[in-house]
Amino acid sequence: MSIELATLNGQSADRAARDQSPLAIRGMTVSYGQKPAVFSVDMTVRPGAMTAIIGPNGAGKSTLLKAALGIITPLAGTSTVFGKTVARQRDWIAYVPQRASVDWDFPTRVIDVVMMGLYAQLGLLGRVRAHHRAQALDCLARVGMQDFATRQIGQLSGGQQQRVFLARALAQQADLYLLDEPFAGVDAATEKAIIDVLKSLRDAGKTVVAVHHDLSTVAEYFDDVFLINTQAVAAGPVADVFTQENLQATYGGRLAGAQMDSLSAATA
Ligand SMILES: Nc1ncnc2c1ncn2[C@@H]1O[C@H](COP(=O)(O)OP(=O)(O)OP(=O)(O)O)[C@@H](O)[C@H]1O
Ligand SMILES: [Mg+2]
Repeated sequence: MSIELATLNGQSADRAARDQSPLAIRGMTVSYGQKPAVFSVDMTVRPGAMTAIIGPNGAGKSTLLKAALGIITPLAGTSTVFGKTVARQRDWIAYVPQRASVDWDFPTRVIDVVMMGLYAQLGLLGRVRAHHRAQALDCLARVGMQDFATRQIGQLSGGQQQRVFLARALAQQADLYLLDEPFAGVDAATEKAIIDVLKSLRDAGKTVVAVHHDLSTVAEYFDDVFLINTQAVAAGPVADVFTQENLQATYGGRLAGAQMDSLSAATA
C-alpha cells in the first residue's frame, strides 16, 4: 500500500513538473528511414532557464525540436508546452531554425521578416500600424540591425540574417524560445549580441532552449544541458551534468583529444 502510494505521488509529481514545464517531451521517436534518428527521448525543460541541447552531428537535435513542434510527425511520442498541446500554444513559442534550412528565393525586406513575428498580434488580415512598425524596428535595434530595415533579407550575410531571425523571434513576445544553432557561423561580436539578447530574455523570466556546438562556452552561456545521441544521455544543471564522463558517453570516440583537453578546464 505504502509503495503504491509512493508510486502515485511520484507519478503526480512528474505530471505536475510536465504541466509547468515550458516544454515537456515524452517517448519521442522519429525515423526518416529504417533507423530512428531520435529514439524514445524524454525531456522536461526547466522554466526560466537557458538549456543547451548538445550532441554530435546527426545526433537528432534538430529532429527532436522539429518533432516537438509538430513540424515533422514522430513515430511515437508527445510534447506539451506549459501542459497543453503545441497546437494550442503556438503564440507562446518562437522558433529559429538551423540557418542552412532557410531559403530566401523571393525578395522580402528585413522589416517585413520581423513583422512576420507580429502576426499573432496583427491577425491574418490585420492592418500594419505605425506602432507595429516601431515595435519591429525596436526588435531590430535590440540585435543591432536597425540600419538594415529596408534591405532585402537575401542580400544580408549569414550572420546578419541570423540576427534578423532573432529579431523576428523577439517580435513574437513568446514565452518559450527554441533556437537551432543560433551561433553557427557568426563572428564574435554577433555571438556576443545574440547571447546578450538571450540572457535578457531569460532574466525577464522567459525560457530559452538552444542547440549548441561550442562545448567551451556551455558553462558560461547556459544553466542546464541536455545531452543527446539519438537517445537522451543526460540532462540537468550544467554543474551536475556537463561532465567529461557524460560528454564521452555522448560523443564516444568522436571527441578529439585536443577537444577533450580544452574541455577539462570547462567541465565540472
Ligand atoms: N529530412 C531528412 N531525411 C532523411 N534523413 C534525415 C532528414 N533530416 C535528418 N536526417 C537524418 O537524421 C539524423 C538526425 O539529423 P538531425 O538533423 O536531427 O541531426 P542534428 O543533431 O541536428 O545534427 P547537426 O549537428 O549536424 O545539425 C541524421 O542521421 C540525418 O542524416
Ligand atoms: Mg541540426
